[in-house]
Amino acid sequence: MGIISRSAAGRKPNESMRLIVTTFIGVVFGFFVGVSFPTLSLTKLNIPSSLLPTVDLSYIEDKKSGISTQTILNAWSSTRSNNSSSTQSNDTSKIWVTSNPRGAERLAPGIIAAESDFYPRRLWGKPSEDLTIKPKYLVTFTVGYSQKKNIDAAVKKFSENFTILLFHYDGQTTEWDEFEWSKRAIHVSARKQTKWWYAKRFLHPDIVAPYDYIFIWDEDLGVEHFNAEEYIKLVRKHGLEISQPGLEPNKGLTWQMTKRRGDREVHKVTEEKPGWCTDPHLPPCAGFVEIMAPVFSRDAWRCVWYMIQNDLVHGWGLDFALRKCVEPAHEKIGVVDRQWIVHQSVPSLGNQGEVKDGKAPWHGVRERCRKEWTMFQSRMANAENAYFKSLGSNSTTH
Ligand SMILES: *[C@@H]1O[C@H](CO)[C@@H](O)[C@H](O)[C@H]1NC(C)=O
Ligand SMILES: *[C@@H]1O[C@H](CO)[C@@H](O)[C@H](O)[C@H]1NC(C)=O
Ligand SMILES: *[C@@H]1O[C@H](CO)[C@@H](O)[C@H](O)[C@H]1NC(C)=O
Ligand SMILES: *[C@@H]1O[C@H](CO)[C@@H](O)[C@H](O)[C@H]1NC(C)=O
Ligand SMILES: *[C@@H]1O[C@H](CO)[C@@H](O)[C@H](O)[C@H]1NC(C)=O
Repeated sequence: MGIISRSAAGRKPNESMRLIVTTFIGVVFGFFVGVSFPTLSLTKLNIPSSLLPTVDLSYIEDKKSGISTQTILNAWSSTRSNNSSSTQSNDTSKIWVTSNPRGAERLAPGIIAAESDFYPRRLWGKPSEDLTIKPKYLVTFTVGYSQKKNIDAAVKKFSENFTILLFHYDGQTTEWDEFEWSKRAIHVSARKQTKWWYAKRFLHPDIVAPYDYIFIWDEDLGVEHFNAEEYIKLVRKHGLEISQPGLEPNKGLTWQMTKRRGDREVHKVTEEKPGWCTDPHLPPCAGFVEIMAPVFSRDAWRCVWYMIQNDLVHGWGLDFALRKCVEPAHEKIGVVDRQWIVHQSVPSLGNQGEVKDGKAPWHGVRERCRKEWTMFQSRMANAENAYFKSLGSNSTTH
């Protein structure tokens, strides 16, 4: 302003007039910019950026709270300086804790949060009072919106003791808000991925650590005769670390093991067609469940997660290998007959493949499933051979 008026003094009247008009327009324009972005000017422009710590505190500032950024900064720096002497003065007093998680050795063990959860929290109030209920079980469904009726029915079988986590493979998420439960569910969206792809990426054992049991289910399961709380009771009672509900027998079943028995609560062994089982304690006669509706205990999942391969997304072969994660497998893996489901065999995600050489999408998917199955088998065999070899033993029996 000062510069403008000084230079304007020595000019001709009409030139000065033009300047005044220009200045006036400029001022008016500036006023409107100010009116349009009041929060921006309050929170950002008034604070010299040199004052901000690495964590940007500016967004916390709120006219209503009456706490200015400056106050927070002062408090922050005084706490910091007060106790600095106890940690800085001596080299030997530098923190290095080898028992910390890898990469976190520089931190005091007391500040390390090694595990997490899926509990939503509020943005206000005391953190300790955020959670009115901490669900002890986790259920995930890999879903497309076209299966909404089925999923709605399934989710309703799980009480408030379950965290509900939906993996969306078709990009549709907000559409689910028509269901009341959708608002308390966690939604993860990534297009055209499989259940095991999501499980590997979003169900790390340290993330799902608070859950006693984890259900990793397909979307095409009929749950009319299923009650989740009752299921958990049976699983606990019979010590099942890996389980699935029995399957409705009148559908085309691949395995006898997962077929529902009408006369008992659970079963852990079965008879197969002659010659199918070399050992009655090994799959497919015992020690396995199918991958469409498995339920894992926390400990079993911690092992199984590590076995899932990042690139073998269909998980074929995993069912026969689950037994490697529990001991003895033929006692801790089983099928719950009293709470059972119907496999509806809707080829949903399969249709998300691509048309190739004029073949329907599911051809390519099916082909990949088979290939992955062989790849998984040979990876497992190679890994075990390498291990036993490294021990100086050539035995591969387990
Ligand atoms: C820091 O120490 C000073 C005096 O030593 C004390 O007045 C102040 O309350 C302390 N601040 C904190 C956050 O402990
Ligand atoms: C700061 O140090 C004092 C003693 O020097 C101690 O009593 C206090 O607990 C320390 N505070 C923190 C936050 O570590
Ligand atoms: C620094 O280390 C020496 C021994 O290495 C120890 O005697 C001394 O007490 C330490 N000082 C502090 C402030 O921790
Ligand atoms: C949820 O869990 C609690 C504690 O285990 C139990 O008392 C309650 O009955 C469960 N809710 C339902 C709906 O079963
Ligand atoms: C296994 O090792 C033993 C000696 O350690 C050897 O005699 C035997 O031939 C080996 N078997 C195989 C299949 O390599």
